[in-house]
Amino acid sequence: MIRFTDYYQNEVLLSFEDHPFSKNPKHVWVICMYQKKWLLTSHKDRGLEFPGGKVEKGETPEEAAKREVFEETGGIVRNVQYLGQYKVLGKEKTIVKNIYFSQVEEMVKKKHYLETNGPVLLADFPDQIDQDNRFSFIMKDGVLFNSLHRLSNQKLFT
Ligand code: GTP
Repeated sequence: MIRFTDYYQNEVLLSFEDHPFSKNPKHVWVICMYQKKWLLTSHKDRGLEFPGGKVEKGETPEEAAKREVFEETGGIVRNVQYLGQYKVLGKEKTIVKNIYFSQVEEMVKKKHYLETNGPVLLADFPDQIDQDNRFSFIMKDGVLFNSLHRLSNQKLFT
């Protein structure tokens, strides 16, 4: 288990074990790759981030992950791979999010991408992402760094 604080000084617990905080998390976050680049979405308020959101009623977290990727980027995903889970102890509420990794197979151009301006492909992340105002706060804590490290150790991408 890894502990740190997020951009807003909320405490975060991160683990790469099998669903350590909740068997039914209500949030998902999907680290996406498309043609060897990172596939992000440009959120209208928060900035660049990996797609994700809330699990809807009647949906599994995996289904939510695939739906969010499509809604926010136009990426078509057949499989998502569970990577880990994190818990944010916010001032008002606590949330639990599943982290997935996904290789996007196909991109579809759409008219609308919900609350985002759609897909952005990135070869690399900047060194000081926490000081880069193009990026969303959810990309500015230990979740991104530790997840990418875990993925590269697992050799899930090249
Ligand atoms: P509604 O229920 O639709 O009003 O959503 P909300 O605005 O309360 O947001 P949500 O339930 O998605 O998240 C609640 C709080 O958790 C947010 O205000 C954030 O501070 C925090 N949060 C959500 N996702 C993340 C995340 O990926 N990382 C971090 N560090 N905090 C997050």
